[in-house]
Amino acid sequence: MQISITKNQNPGKLPPSDKLGFGTIFSDHMFIMDYNDAEKWHNPRIIPYGNLSLNPAGSGIQYANTVFEGMKAYRWADGSIHLFRAIENAKRINISAERIGLPQIPNEIFLEAVRKVVDIDRNWVPSEKGTSLYIRPFIFATDPELALHGIHNAIFVIILSPSGSYFAEGIKPVKIMLETEDVRAVRGGTGYTKCGGNYAASNRAGDRALAKGYSQVLWLDGVHRKYIEEVGAMNVMFKINGTVVTPSLENGSILGGITRKSCIEVLKSWGMPVEERLLSVDELIGAAESGKLEEAFGTGTAAVISPIGELFYNDKKYTVNNFEIGETAQKLYDELTGIQWGTKPDKFGWTECV
Ligand code: PLP
Ligand code: COI
Repeated sequence: MQISITKNQNPGKLPPSDKLGFGTIFSDHMFIMDYNDAEKWHNPRIIPYGNLSLNPAGSGIQYANTVFEGMKAYRWADGSIHLFRAIENAKRINISAERIGLPQIPNEIFLEAVRKVVDIDRNWVPSEKGTSLYIRPFIFATDPELALHGIHNAIFVIILSPSGSYFAEGIKPVKIMLETEDVRAVRGGTGYTKCGGNYAASNRAGDRALAKGYSQVLWLDGVHRKYIEEVGAMNVMFKINGTVVTPSLENGSILGGITRKSCIEVLKSWGMPVEERLLSVDELIGAAESGKLEEAFGTGTAAVISPIGELFYNDKKYTVNNFEIGETAQKLYDELTGIQWGTKPDKFGWTECV
């Protein structure tokens, strides 16, 4: 692929690590590529980061015809920069695009675009512990008409955001509220994709949780309102009586997280019992009440491993593991971040140097 490059004439500067937060600071450049039915994907280019000029009737804006990915680049002690399981993001954006009716991007083109824009902005990959360059690739429809005639025009964009911890609390335990009113996804819907609409559907519950002092909501399934699904921006795992239990993906209403998949593979390599299955809220609350719920944590690219210290359900609070980071969550965090930052051997072959 021949990517044209227009350098930013007013480059910015990477702020100090303690000022990074999550997703508010952007690097000097972005990648863009256009799609239409006749030309397919064309005009790949890297240009200075800035506003896009869009037709206000565009169907990405009007109808949420948009999908995205979240991945990270990490700077190792020797200064080299590495991606983590990037092929999984390439595959998943296409799974999402297929569901929404957006054009798919060949995996190699997706990967080349990510590598190239990260390389151009390599100065924006922070180096301090716990920091990384968050990479946000996204595709959205640009068809300039209000009628629902499918998607024939789209763009693919990659923006880069040097980031610290996703939660203000850092890796400290967070408080999570079980959502009993709104639902996020149902079988046959879009829950398994990273499409914009899923996050739009989540806003109201998220706002209500925040107002009550909870970081995010834990969704229940949309039909029975009985089975645990996932958290706003993370999959969830519970250590119950020595076994790590996580909701299975079979129903199609939960995002197949790459961190989730990596944790399962790491846990199994340690010989720890892992179960991917239906987990009802009754079983979870029962375990919390009987002392069998040893740990709860979320897994996600942005959040890494995020211990859950309190669950709120039907007006009752359930403290998990004395609001402390559990042993398994800590071990998983150390192993995953060790592989990502190159301080532990990459036994699984998950990292790639840019
Ligand atoms: N679930 C949802 C709804 C998410 O937005 C995310 C974040 O991407 C995850 C789970 C975790 O997925 P991953 O580990 O691939 O980042
Ligand atoms: C990620 O972890 O990459 C996410 O996409 C989280 C995001 C919704 C804030």
